Amino acid sequence: MKVLVVGSGGREHALCWKIAQSDEVDKIYCAPGNGGTNLVAENVDIKANDIDGLLDFAVKNNIDLTVVGPEEPLVLGIVDRFQERGLKIFGPDKSCARLEGSKSFAKSFMEKYSIPTARYRVYENYNKACEGIKEFNYPLVIKADGLCLGKGVEIVNTQEEAIKVLEDVLENRKFGKEGSKVVIEEYLDGIEASLLCFVTDNRIIPMESAKDYKKAYDGDLGPNTGGVGAFSPSPLFTESLKTRIKEEILDRIQYGLQEEGLNYNGILYVGLMIVDGSPKVLEFNVRFGDPETEVLIPRLESDIVDLFQKTIDSTLDSSDILWKKESSLTVVLTSEGYPLKYEKGFEIEGHESLNESIILFHNGTKLQENRLLTDGGRVLSVIALGNTIEEARRKVYSNINNIRFKGMFYRKDIGK
Ligand code: AMP
Ligand code: GLY
Repeated sequence: MKVLVVGSGGREHALCWKIAQSDEVDKIYCAPGNGGTNLVAENVDIKANDIDGLLDFAVKNNIDLTVVGPEEPLVLGIVDRFQERGLKIFGPDKSCARLEGSKSFAKSFMEKYSIPTARYRVYENYNKACEGIKEFNYPLVIKADGLCLGKGVEIVNTQEEAIKVLEDVLENRKFGKEGSKVVIEEYLDGIEASLLCFVTDNRIIPMESAKDYKKAYDGDLGPNTGGVGAFSPSPLFTESLKTRIKEEILDRIQYGLQEEGLNYNGILYVGLMIVDGSPKVLEFNVRFGDPETEVLIPRLESDIVDLFQKTIDSTLDSSDILWKKESSLTVVLTSEGYPLKYEKGFEIEGHESLNESIILFHNGTKLQENRLLTDGGRVLSVIALGNTIEEARRKVYSNINNIRFKGMFYRKDIGK
């Protein structure tokens, strides 16, 4: 069969790599892909948000299965459009994708179905929002409602800072219509964890847990990023916590989806904060996480194409999803200055002579006349499996120095 993967990051490289291991697959395309997806798939020059272009390509090339990486095409309704044309596609439809596409929708869903989350208010009007923040203590979290390329969440420490953010978002329309509403919410102090789940016909089947490092610098300092390191499983996930997450969160999401008349198929990423041992939902994503996918996929034993097909056919069972016992860890090599200002286009060297225990997924690279160049803030994910997180960690760090590019930066404390 022919598979089309939509997206261009490390997540999509990991997906292409795993899909390539399936006996059912003859050909993989990745749109638009990067310098790494190129190694296992044929890159197609169509942007991930160009739904018409992707649809046209899938029809003309008789694509049997499309797998969507990023949120934007899902929120734009790529799944509905492909299904209307009778094409098989893995991901939630437009109405389900609102769980990520609108934070106010996600919060009201959580409130309605008693899913534990931070206390919140939604505002469209700047003056009312300025009044509303008086009900909260500091730090305080302000979120633009829509998709803002991961830049829509601000944690502020004073009323002055809060008013500045509200002014930027609601008055000056920093995020355009994606910021026409804000969610103001209580700050949760705890430990973050990511739980990705397969969802088939609203039935939620959790994967193994993962821990993502969101801050740019060692010791969890500096600005928030898309994620610069990860490991799996997260030792936080004891049996008793797993039971609580199932009963207090996953079962209620499932019930809520059913009650709302939604029909969710695809991946649901539940972003959690564990506060004094109790799980609370920070956010939903309607797709695989990045870099969580880079550590989960190498641990997955099962044929992923089989899992995608069973999800679409509503026959997926938890016993279909088998995991390796080993742990995995990734360190993301970034361009100096990321997530703020950075340069790209620098040659990457040493990536071909890594130890064979290392898996390398490309986040932001491109091939130009046989040279591999940096092409994003996150550049490469260096991954290893190990009997323990510590063993995986040692393998990764002892191999990083073989890779070189100008301005290469990475955290030294992933998994420590
Ligand atoms: P979100 O996109 O909603 O996950 O927010 C991005 C990041 O901001 C999260 O991964 C957390 O690190 C942080 N964050 C979001 N909401 C809260 C909250 N209520 N309390 C503390 N940190 C938060
Ligand atoms: N690693 C966080 C995300 O994928 O949103």
